[in-house]
Amino acid sequence: ERYTTMFQTLPKIELHTHLEGCAPPSFIQQLASEKNIDIAKIFAADGGYAFENFDHFLQVYEAACTTLQTPEDFRRLTFAVLEETAKHGVVYMETFVSPDFCGGGDLVAWRDYVAAMEDAATEAEMRFGITLRGIVTGIRHFGHESCIPAAHCAADTFGSFITGYGMAGGEMVGRPADYTRSFDIARDAGMPLTCHAGEWGGAAMVAETIKHLKVARIGHGIGAIDDPALVQHIAETGIVLEVCPGSNVVLNAVSGWDAHPIVKLRDAGVKVTVSTDDPPFFHTTMSYEYEMLSKTFGWTQADFDAVTETALNAAFCDDQTRQRVA
Ligand code: HPA
Ligand code: ZN
Repeated sequence: ERYTTMFQTLPKIELHTHLEGCAPPSFIQQLASEKNIDIAKIFAADGGYAFENFDHFLQVYEAACTTLQTPEDFRRLTFAVLEETAKHGVVYMETFVSPDFCGGGDLVAWRDYVAAMEDAATEAEMRFGITLRGIVTGIRHFGHESCIPAAHCAADTFGSFITGYGMAGGEMVGRPADYTRSFDIARDAGMPLTCHAGEWGGAAMVAETIKHLKVARIGHGIGAIDDPALVQHIAETGIVLEVCPGSNVVLNAVSGWDAHPIVKLRDAGVKVTVSTDDPPFFHTTMSYEYEMLSKTFGWTQADFDAVTETALNAAFCDDQTRQRVA
């Protein structure tokens, strides 16, 4: 069933996961059965998620999300995800959560979902020794108008479990400048910011995201590699990249592990971290990411220690939590 690698027990930190995207297919199938929802079409013959490309992945993702309906569903999801993630040595994890999938942007409903997720995280922390924080995300392809209520939900629940604001979804929908209002709302509330960019949109999308949305971190950001001046700017300003190599390989954002720019970015002085994005969708785990970085680029303990230190310093949690998980 679950293979072990020599890296499985190394303590790890990951900053870029999507909560619903961490749901094992069996978990989603179980919810679908309980609710009589027919989502057979999103599964392959082997029971895994089946998709052809990034846009199709987003469709399959949203179909899976139709089974996640109540705060109780999200409590079960959060607990199951943390139990699984902790098996790979992850001691601290940040995950994207979206009001769009938790009450549709309604503030009163959203508070109940956050309470349920926080409750599960507290329980899992005691049981499995893993700490979770949530980053509220607007969903780009739902339109910039939909990101406004998401940002208000973020600001309203900012402080304990919820530690940041960001944007996920279809990167080629609109330009970063179209989403300034939602990011301004979150920034004015004091929230740290991150945004998916440069997974598909190249260096220009990364540059516009930094300029207009003023983020501390970029989700993926690998497209920056084509613009040396931009890479230098990212290095000098200390913007952190949430790199998800296994995700990039499966979705064909890069042609293979050998072609991944994570080492070039790091060697240019960019702060890089390593995450799984949506592990069961991309047939990955943090142990597998480490194994492939070791196999492909010869990464050793020192390389992994460096990304863990970078991730710890870039985490959106308070300093007390940072010191506790260090
Ligand atoms: N990328 C962008 N948007 C997403 C993803 C992802 O991997 N997962 C869920 N929404
Ligand atoms: Zn992502």
